[in-house]
Amino acid sequence: MSLFIKKPLDKLLKEASELGEHTLKRTLGSGALLALGIGAIIGAGIFVRTAAAAGNHAGPGVMISYIIAGIGCAFAGLCYVEFASMIPIAGSAYTYSYATMGELIAWIIGWDLILEYALGAATVAIAWSEYLNKLCEHYFGFTVPYALCHSPFQTSMTGEQGIINIPALLILGLLTLILIKGTKESANVNGIIVVVKVVIVLVFIALGWHFIVPENHAVIIPPNTGETGMFGWSGVLRGAGIVFFAYVGFDAVSTAAQEAKNPQKGMPIGILGSLAFCTVLYILFSYVLTGVANYKDFSVTGPGHEAAVAYAISHYMVGYEWFAGLITIAILAGFSSVILVMLLGQSRVFFSMSKDGLLPKSFSTVHPKYKTPAKANMWLFVLVGGFAAFVPGDIVGDMCSIGTLFAFILVSIGVIIMRKSNPETARPFKVPLVPLIPILGALVCGFMVFGLGWENWSRLLIWLIIGFDVYLLYSLKTVT
Ligand code: ALA
Repeated sequence: MSLFIKKPLDKLLKEASELGEHTLKRTLGSGALLALGIGAIIGAGIFVRTAAAAGNHAGPGVMISYIIAGIGCAFAGLCYVEFASMIPIAGSAYTYSYATMGELIAWIIGWDLILEYALGAATVAIAWSEYLNKLCEHYFGFTVPYALCHSPFQTSMTGEQGIINIPALLILGLLTLILIKGTKESANVNGIIVVVKVVIVLVFIALGWHFIVPENHAVIIPPNTGETGMFGWSGVLRGAGIVFFAYVGFDAVSTAAQEAKNPQKGMPIGILGSLAFCTVLYILFSYVLTGVANYKDFSVTGPGHEAAVAYAISHYMVGYEWFAGLITIAILAGFSSVILVMLLGQSRVFFSMSKDGLLPKSFSTVHPKYKTPAKANMWLFVLVGGFAAFVPGDIVGDMCSIGTLFAFILVSIGVIIMRKSNPETARPFKVPLVPLIPILGALVCGFMVFGLGWENWSRLLIWLIIGFDVYLLYSLKTVT
């Protein structure tokens, strides 16, 4: 037992090809992996955070924020692909760090990934509940009572007290059942949703293009107000930290490496393909959104602060008001697939940690019929459901981003370490220009962590300290 013991690469590779009660089924082709990536990426980020970043920090410069965040993700994505095609095991960043930096760092990453996947799923489930209410109001004229769709820590403007967020629990329960039923079934559901949301985003870009007002783009980066992060270049950087959430999820493809039919081919396509596709889509989307409406409309005090996309359509795209309702449906669909892939990713990380003895064995027991980690999925429902039902959703989004960025930094560093420690191992995909690209990846992600501000740094630190205690009290004792 040692804090710094590493998991030998040959053991990992053997696990990748094992069969048995603790083995997942290889069912996913390159197309399904690509859809999995897009399914996890397009969600609350593009629909909610683009406007928030533009209105409060970057103005139309949010396009540049998307480019900066996209570059950081591309560097880190290349590193993920090298690992995922070399070690096609379920645990993603957790597994790679176990092989490169030892058990303690692996535990830290595993614990950190809970921020990304479990809290990410909870955040989006809470947003799903809010948008469901908007949709019910828009089409059917009723809403779920406030107490039944808010946490006990929330109170409405009229003094109503939240009790529990039932719609968030319902969507999580439904998606958990689909995940238990099978990865292939989940991938099919995801595939349908991906088509719906991508089509709607493309339609928005195509229609909105004709309503762009050149004056809205006359100044791309509004001057800084005198406060760091409030417009100017520091605002663009702060914006990158905010819209980074929109990219979170492409790495979830790597958690499904053990279920890929041909990980050597599927991982590069799934990870880099989904990232490239969404980057182009995001830049175009932010260009159109900030061209159709003025960024000032989206500031916290602006009229388009809430449901910004629907606002821009109904106020500025004359003749297309009907499209605002459709966008809401796409947003709900988009949220569902994000939650689905986040839950999938988290259960696979738990699966790997359990196989290594860092978590109880039930997390890696595969259902005899469905061949999915059903128990891990159920425990996860309890964990994520607990957050979604009883905790407000506003701060968990940034915690999800900072946790993900931290994982990206460690994976980038891991590539450099692995090149030195295991130079001979076959690498079906190699990051070009090592160590330059991984170093740039770590630096750009580091800048975005910086942009997220000290409150989020402290939250990450507290989370890691709690994780370290769990490690000392449970995992260190059980691993031999
Ligand atoms: N990228 C995902 C989203 O934007 C997490 O919802």
